[in-house]
Amino acid sequence: MILISGATGTIGRALLHQLSAQGVPVRAMTRDPARVRDLPGVEAVRGDFTDPASLSRAVAGVDAVFLLTAPSAPVAEHDAAMVAAARAAGVRRVVKLSAIRVPELDEWSFHLAGERVLRDSGLDWTVLRPASFASNTLSWAPAIRAGAPVPNPSGAGRQGVVDPRDVAAVAARVLTAGGHHGAVYTLTGPAAISVPDQARHLSAVLGTPVPVRDLPAAEYREVLVGAGMDAGFVEVAVRGTSVVREGGGATVTDDVARILGRPATPYENWAGAHRAAFLAG
Ligand SMILES: NC(=O)c1ccc[n+]([C@@H]2O[C@H](COP(=O)([O-])OP(=O)(O)OC[C@H]3O[C@@H](n4cnc5c(N)ncnc54)[C@H](OP(=O)(O)O)[C@@H]3O)[C@@H](O)[C@H]2O)c1
Repeated sequence: MILISGATGTIGRALLHQLSAQGVPVRAMTRDPARVRDLPGVEAVRGDFTDPASLSRAVAGVDAVFLLTAPSAPVAEHDAAMVAAARAAGVRRVVKLSAIRVPELDEWSFHLAGERVLRDSGLDWTVLRPASFASNTLSWAPAIRAGAPVPNPSGAGRQGVVDPRDVAAVAARVLTAGGHHGAVYTLTGPAAISVPDQARHLSAVLGTPVPVRDLPAAEYREVLVGAGMDAGFVEVAVRGTSVVREGGGATVTDDVARILGRPATPYENWAGAHRAAFLAG
């Protein structure tokens, strides 16, 4: 039995589908079990990182945990709460979803503290550090439908944009197979691409122009604060994006291909598979 936290989110949902299709029994953790889709071999459990008793119930009898904490200031505390529950319950393996460039952001990164807690836990651990998700561009859909430019906080800076389905596939492999203890994988797509590159690919897929508007750091900060994001997370996001803008985000690795035995998925393929989500009203 594998416990998937963040089961109602982008990566967690993809992971549930993949493990269910592979016939692996899965427990899907969420604060609202009604949100978990009915899938073969998947049971929903209520769990909240701020409620240790709920975590103890969620990990009871599981062999491995996929640890995904939402992008906000308490990431490290949430990671520590789950690691403590997993240790107490005799869970063998924990796979944590972290983020690329965590070491460079250092004290700015909540994920780095969470990674340290896991490394020091004595559990069989693996850390996955994905690059920017291709699915982030779904937030452009309303602007594209309105014919408005999409915001670009990272200028011509490039990133190894990764398909969330590839991240989930790596997580599924690491959770179910041995041999990954102590490994840190940096998960990227096959190429470093900029926001204007992504807009060009989307334009080709959708058959409509996708103009881009530069978003300076101060304006980007205002947008994130206005969206109600945690103040600490806003600073991490703004700082991380400025690193990308300055050219420090172009890392591409072959970790996805090495682990899955097939190439990572290019952004344009992700966009083609999600065409309907950009066109639907
Ligand atoms: N987006 C990117 O480009 C990117 C790149 C690298 C790394 N990351 C990392 O990826 C992670 C986000 O993954 P995602 O996009 O798949 O997540 P997501 O779609 O934002 O979903 C967040 C998940 O966290 C759960 N959650 C939130 N607060 C919770 C709490 N107190 N207790 C239990 N569960 C809680 C939510 O479940 P319920 O609401 O159902 O409870 C939901 O399933 C973050 O750690 C982020 O730093 C993101």
